[in-house]
Amino acid sequence: MKKRLFTGLQPSGDLHIGNYYGALKPFVDMYEAYNSFLMIADYHALTSLRDSEALHQNTINIVKDYLAVGVDPEKVVIFRQSDNPDHTELGWILNCMVTVPFLMQGHAYKDKVAKGIEPNAGLFTYPMLMAADILLYDTDVVPVGEDQRQHLEYTREAVGKFNRAYGDVLKEPETVILDGVGVVPGTDGQKMSKSYKNTIPLFGTTEEVEKSVMHIVTDSNGERPENVYAIHRLLKSAEELDPIYETYKGKYGDLKKMLAADLETMIAPMRERRNAITDEQVRAVLANGVIKAREVSGSVLEQVRTAIGIAL
Ligand code: ADP
Ligand code: TRP
Repeated sequence: MKKRLFTGLQPSGDLHIGNYYGALKPFVDMYEAYNSFLMIADYHALTSLRDSEALHQNTINIVKDYLAVGVDPEKVVIFRQSDNPDHTELGWILNCMVTVPFLMQGHAYKDKVAKGIEPNAGLFTYPMLMAADILLYDTDVVPVGEDQRQHLEYTREAVGKFNRAYGDVLKEPETVILDGVGVVPGTDGQKMSKSYKNTIPLFGTTEEVEKSVMHIVTDSNGERPENVYAIHRLLKSAEELDPIYETYKGKYGDLKKMLAADLETMIAPMRERRNAITDEQVRAVLANGVIKAREVSGSVLEQVRTAIGIAL
């Protein structure tokens, strides 16, 4: 029996190569070893997105992105959180298990407060919806980025609180911090992030990718352009790159052109695959996924309902 893997993704717009090396590729490399579930966390996205067209489009897009990088919908259950009402139901039940001061320690909530943004109640209870996502599938492992570590701790706390009150019903999951390449730097040398506008788009056109590469910041000291090299190293080994960077010392324009060409070689087949996926196909994947998801979540939720005394 394979162990069960569950992970969730917020549908949050166009992906960049930092997302690819930090999240998508490590997922593609590991998911087949498990009985895997991949959930689009659209109700989590609603805590910060109030644009219906964007939520809709981002959801379709992220499924296309995952299919294009090599996720096979026959080998993983792909579904949308909002299509399975078991999530909000267990989320409510878990909210009743934890205290306000406990949730007040949440990083996402605290960050918003620190920035003077008024947090909505959904953001406040976000960790319990995420706990519900995971616990409904008797999940063994949850691969996430480092930024999600605290949410997994909250999930384990919720399991403890529930099981102490009602017996051994929920299964405590393990956190697997994705073993990506560490932090991928952006065109300005900081962490690549859509909020810093320093990204290289994963599914950009040849011209868009080239344009971002040309914007990579370099010093004019004649030494190796570290920001170019660091991104290039994601694609090629030091043995391959070092002689080239030596030969083209100081010729930043040439080195950037080579990086853009290597990115194009990596991206082109994925872009082609992505362009061939229709919205119809995405809807079919999600419709099929939620049927399989509910088969599992329904039976866990039934045990929870029985445990708390609402199954008549
Ligand atoms: P962004 O910083 O652009 O908003 P997200 O926070 O939406 O990106 O990240 C989605 C996933 O991609 C997370 O798992 C995160 O760890 C990973 N990721 C994002 N940026 C990078 C990066 N620069 N290097 C490595 N992984 C990244
Ligand atoms: N909170 C996660 C993020 O922002 C997304 C997510 C929702 C998730 N539910 C999950 C991740 C369950 C892992 C397991 O990236």
